[in-house]
Amino acid sequence: MIALHRISDSVRARSLVAAPCRRFLLGLLVLLPLFVAGPGCGPVDINQEPSSAAGCEPPQAGDLEPQPIMLPGRRCAACHEKGHQAGRRVWTAAGTVYDRPDSPCNSGVVAGAKVEIADETRKVLVTLYTNSRGNFYTSEPLRYTGIIVRVSKDGKTREMQGAMGSTDCAACHYPGGSAGGRVYLN
Ligand code: HEC
Ligand code: HEC
Repeated sequence: MIALHRISDSVRARSLVAAPCRRFLLGLLVLLPLFVAGPGCGPVDINQEPSSAAGCEPPQAGDLEPQPIMLPGRRCAACHEKGHQAGRRVWTAAGTVYDRPDSPCNSGVVAGAKVEIADETRKVLVTLYTNSRGNFYTSEPLRYTGIIVRVSKDGKTREMQGAMGSTDCAACHYPGGSAGGRVYLN
């Protein structure tokens, strides 16, 4: 019963936010020269976390809704971390897969890619699949000192060689970042 109430409350809260938020963003497009940055829409405020940008272009309106297809390419962990705006939903690994390393964020995503996250001994800790906007995420506890990641689909595979100390993919994976480009498969 309690769980059911919580779900319907959050569904109601979202539908109350969504429509005015969309209108606000449409208005923002028209008035773009007047507004440099608008206030946060609903619970997601990208301006509050500048480090989430990962070299991305401005988000599309629907990308600011709190759901699995939100904000592809951005640093999910900038917000989905304790003490930050999505601190109630902490991901232990999250990111987005693209079809080329220099892709913009809002297009070029690869859906249905398999993402295997292994520890430094190559033992697979978790296997995830990208959704329709190329995003993957998990809140499963992951124990590692270094991670090795393999991304694959339709016989194509890309594997991270070095064991990295973090699962915050977009902290390194963006054009100009330490990994040289986005997580990609082609
Ligand atoms: C600018 C901040 C921000 C960024 C960046 C961000 N999110 Fe979110 N996300 C939020 C907020 C805020 C919520 C609502 C959290 C809540 O309900 O407490 C949310 C909710 C979600 C939800 C729904 C969770 C639930 O249980 O209802 C998913 C799934 C999600 N985000 C995935 C992602 C993924 C994957 C990324 C990266 C590709 C990402 N988010 C990037 C702020 C962000
Ligand atoms: C601390 C920085 C860092 C983090 C965090 C990181 N990577 Fe990497 N990644 C790199 C670097 C540097 C390379 C290139 C060298 C190598 O393969 O070791 C790389 C390479 C890759 C490759 C191979 C690319 C190719 O051209 O074949 C894949 C796939 C990959 N990473 C996926 C991921 C995923 C998915 C995540 C998040 C779960 C992630 N990485 C997190 C730094 C990082």
